[in-house]
Amino acid sequence: MSLRVAIVGSGPAGIYTAEALTKQAPGSVEVDVIERLPTPYGLVRYGVAPDHTSIKSIADYLRRVLELPAVRFLGGVELGKDVGVTDLLDCYDAVVYCTGAMVDRRMGIPGEDLPGSVAATDFVNWYCGHPDTPADRFVLDSPEVAVIGVGNVAVDVVRVLAKTAEELRATDVPEEVLTRLAGSQVKAIHMIGRRGPEHAKFTLKELRELGELANADVCVRPEEAVADVTEASRQIRGNVEVLQSWAARGPVGRPRRLDVRFWMRPVEILGESRVEALRLERTRLVDGRVVGTGEFETLPVGMVLRSVGYQSVPLPGVPFSDATMTVPNEAGRVRDREYVAGWLKRGPTGVIGTNKSDAAETVRTLLADLAGREPVRRADLDAVLASRGVSPITYRHWLAIEAAEADLAMTLGRGERVKLLGLAAMLTASGH
Ligand SMILES: Cc1cc2nc3c(=O)[nH]c(=O)nc-3n(C[C@H](O)[C@H](O)[C@H](O)COP(=O)(O)OP(=O)(O)OC[C@H]3O[C@@H](n4cnc5c(N)ncnc54)[C@H](O)[C@@H]3O)c2cc1C
Ligand SMILES: NC(=O)c1ccc[n+]([C@@H]2O[C@H](COP(=O)([O-])OP(=O)(O)OC[C@H]3O[C@@H](n4cnc5c(N)ncnc54)[C@H](OP(=O)(O)O)[C@@H]3O)[C@@H](O)[C@H]2O)c1
Repeated sequence: MSLRVAIVGSGPAGIYTAEALTKQAPGSVEVDVIERLPTPYGLVRYGVAPDHTSIKSIADYLRRVLELPAVRFLGGVELGKDVGVTDLLDCYDAVVYCTGAMVDRRMGIPGEDLPGSVAATDFVNWYCGHPDTPADRFVLDSPEVAVIGVGNVAVDVVRVLAKTAEELRATDVPEEVLTRLAGSQVKAIHMIGRRGPEHAKFTLKELRELGELANADVCVRPEEAVADVTEASRQIRGNVEVLQSWAARGPVGRPRRLDVRFWMRPVEILGESRVEALRLERTRLVDGRVVGTGEFETLPVGMVLRSVGYQSVPLPGVPFSDATMTVPNEAGRVRDREYVAGWLKRGPTGVIGTNKSDAAETVRTLLADLAGREPVRRADLDAVLASRGVSPITYRHWLAIEAAEADLAMTLGRGERVKLLGLAAMLTASGH
């Protein structure tokens, strides 16, 4: 008899786990991929920047896994709401949690909760058309904006703020969001690194793209671009070289300006009823720790975007470490018949491909643990869901949503697809 496995979450980790199961146990495994949204692919759909179309095309690879005969997609089913861990353990021989990292980390400074201080997670959700964030969530009415953090998410956010709506027209950005981007009043974007250029987390390819922006001058202060990189990796040397080349050139009068800053940490967000300014303190490293120098600077920004990393949220009934903000595991094993993969397993770092080897490790552990065991499942998820009035979104429904998005792009004279906004529109299009 086949092993039946439930995977919770249909991002890269979930789908690579499904693929690894079908590859490592060919012909003897059946997989249900359970997803709270009506749509698969997690951050490939709702995180990867809309103008990174070649990365988004990874969805074409993931799609082939969902189309395998041994794999089923069950959208619109949320662990913790529609089903519990006990239900899944009753219905499957094993469960793999792959729910990623859905919320932002906090900076822990005064003013962080003022209106206008927003998490990159929220802003990314907005321009990606995630159903959790409505189109009217953002009005880009401030001439100056600060983006905190110098990782690849910050680079994405900065690029979307710096580009014109016209440059994003051929992407899948929802039409309502594109209209709001077209009305953007943003003139200056300040990207803030609390350490030096040699410590920045962005990657060279992504950094270089900022220098190619047609609509924005990129400025770096020569004194902030100084770094000793003789012992550093190629990647870091490359980053520093690019930043120093920007420091050596002046602005050429493009409509927007991006200031990339280093050695500055946010200490307070100022404002009466909303963000009016950001107070920064110059920093230096002491024994590897970032410390303030007592030299302050205030930027007159009306929006602060915190791009300081994502973090996972605990799943009801699943062990969780508040210290690492991940599910404690040994090579993917959480407890008997329970496993974890992806960002929930190792934290919110790494590119899409990192999740493939990570998922393969979890599947090796799972198959070794269950080898020779009799199936223990005694219930059927379809019946459990039906008894609760939950009717899953199937892969066929998802294909109907995709087709509607392609039709919308055609009608609007835009690219290959334009995202539908909101659950209601997606459900209507799905024919569910
Ligand atoms: C803004 C952003 C841009 C990125 N861009 C790139 C890039 O260009 N290139 C690159 O290589 N990497 C990129 N990454 C990294 C990449 O997206 C991650 O490595 C990858 O998505 C992590 O996969 P995951 O499956 O663990 O999580 P996710 O992709 O987040 O998938 C988790 C899935 O679980 C679902 N889920 C959550 N809770 C529940 C629940 N209770 N019940 C059911 N389902 C649930 C979610 O809806 C989601 O579909 C980016 C990351 C971010 C944040
Ligand atoms: N195109 C791509 O390939 C792509 C695109 C997007 C995301 N990703 C991947 O997704 C993962 C997550 O990216 P990310 O950008 O969210 O995270 P990240 O790479 O961890 O970067 C977080 C940034 O926030 C800074 N930071 C953290 N806490 C801070 C604080 N309190 N005050 C000021 N700054 C603070 C960090 O600085 P310190 O270093 O000083 O802590 C760092 O610069 C990464 O692995 C990334 O490569 C890839």
